[in-house]
Amino acid sequence: MKITEKDLDFLRSEIKKYVSGKRLAHTLSVEKEAAKLGSIFSLSKDKINKLAAAGILHDITKSLSTEEQIELMKKYKISLTQDDLQSPKIFHSITGAHFAREHFPEFTDREIFLSILYHTTGKPSMTLFQKLIYLADYIEPLRDFPDCVRLRDFFYSVPNINVSHLDKTLLLSFDLTISNLVEEKQFIHKKTVAARNYLLLK
Ligand SMILES: [Fe+2]
Ligand SMILES: [Fe+2]
Repeated sequence: MKITEKDLDFLRSEIKKYVSGKRLAHTLSVEKEAAKLGSIFSLSKDKINKLAAAGILHDITKSLSTEEQIELMKKYKISLTQDDLQSPKIFHSITGAHFAREHFPEFTDREIFLSILYHTTGKPSMTLFQKLIYLADYIEPLRDFPDCVRLRDFFYSVPNINVSHLDKTLLLSFDLTISNLVEEKQFIHKKTVAARNYLLLK
């Protein structure tokens, strides 16, 4: 699948039907950050455009209510795990992947679908593409939450960014996410713990 600059213009205008205000600004900032990360990792122009498209689509259902998310999950016949049920914040990544595939099938191949699906929890053995979307969402420059600033500074603190540094950055992100959830006495999704342990032992 090849995504052109024209396709990206189309997606940028389409996404405004689904997200607005701060969320739209975040979406377009994730698009930019994802493309920037793609060039840091010397990916091809085609791949970089795919990262940009995944960035534009990643939060497509985030403005919907929990009830609407649940309706969508019924529609797509998605069965949730016990962990999913305890984590309403991740519903939009599950519905978003399916919604993007339904409404933009020409732009949502498996690689983009899975990067949307795992952009909130992460998972063990993520592909480079999935890692870059996950990270772009965390560190895009509009995010000013202290952990986001810390993660961004850590990622950009070394002169030569490579996959091993990317993995260290992701490990730190999972640690920060898990610490926060513990602090807030919130449920931690199994996939986030598994993603963290996977990188820790790597
Ligand atoms: Fe999200
Ligand atoms: Fe996001």
